[in-house]
Parts: sequence; structure tokens; C-alpha cells
Amino acid sequence: MAILKIARMGHPVLLRRCDPVADPGAPEVRRLVADMFETMADAQGAGLAAPQVHAPLRIFVFRAAPERAGEDAEDMPIGDTVMINPEVELLSDDRVLGWEGCLSIPGLRAAVPRAPRIRYRGVDCDGNRTERTAAGFHARVVQHEFDHLNGILYPMRMTDFSLFGFTDEMARFAAAAARQEAAQQTDQQTETNR
Ligand code: NI
Repeated sequence: MAILKIARMGHPVLLRRCDPVADPGAPEVRRLVADMFETMADAQGAGLAAPQVHAPLRIFVFRAAPERAGEDAEDMPIGDTVMINPEVELLSDDRVLGWEGCLSIPGLRAAVPRAPRIRYRGVDCDGNRTERTAAGFHARVVQHEFDHLNGILYPMRMTDFSLFGFTDEMARFAAAAARQEAAQQTDQQTETNR
């Protein structure tokens, strides 16, 4: 197994429509999938699509960690999953904003509109077919990774560019805002106690 180099936004491999996998069980496909899992874990990502490691094929891997999952049965933690030649069906015309990052756009994150519920299906290297409905983070990560297979990066889905920034800057200001709010609450309590 190997940790693969991740293509960053600006590389043309991220902008093309990827090719279907003719034989999901082929040794080179198994090796690629194993390397993608290792690369995703090393980069501490929630998902990784084959074009991000310079392989323009219809394959992505993902996981929904317990801390990212919700309470909904369709938003439960999901272990390491591979989807080869996947299909995604949006089950709602609604779009909800949620924060996303991308290993090909390091250091940045944004609020991106996505369908709140989807159905998706695909196969693994042994030909086992998976079909699931998903909501919440689970639905979001699958839509994000599926977009990569069609050359779509999350900024192309954005509607409000004021919700786009460097992760560390936003964390710094979020922390400052939380401290200010806590200080105001303490002031109010002090006044009430007088
Ligand atoms: Ni991505």
C-alpha cells in the first residue's frame, strides 16, 4: 500500500468527467482502492475520490465518523466504504447549507448547498452492491465525492461566497466570538446578581 499524492485545485484531472471502471475486481483497481483508503486516513479526510489521486476513474471512498454523524438513522456513522461506478439520486428539491472542506483545496472551507436526502448505489471490488438512503453529513459527503467524478469542486456549488474562508481564520474568529458572548453573559449575570 502507498500514500498517494493529492491533486490540488487547478490541476486539470479535477475538472474532467471520470471514466467508468470496466472491472472493479481487477488487481490494479484493488490496489488503487487500498491506496485511497490509506491516503484518506493519512490526510484525516472524510472522503477521497480517484481523480484527487490522479486516477480519472469513477471510484470514491468515504467514512462518516461518529462525531460527524447525526441522530437520524440515515445519518449514522459509516465505516470505510468504497463506491465504484456509483449513482446518486437526490430525494429532495430542497438545498441545505453545511460546512465542507476538500483535500484538493487545503486550508479552506465553505458553506455549500446540498440535498438533505439522497439514495446512492455502487459496487465494491468484490462486486457486492450497496444501495443506501442517506441524510445529513452522510448525504453531504457522498454528494461531495460524487461531484468529483464529474469534475465538480465544491466552490462550483456555492451560492454565498461570504461563507468561504480559511479554516484557521474562521476558527480564530469563532473562538473570539464565543469568548465575547460568554463575557456578555457573565456581565448580565453580574448585573442580575446586584
Ligand atoms: Ni473533495
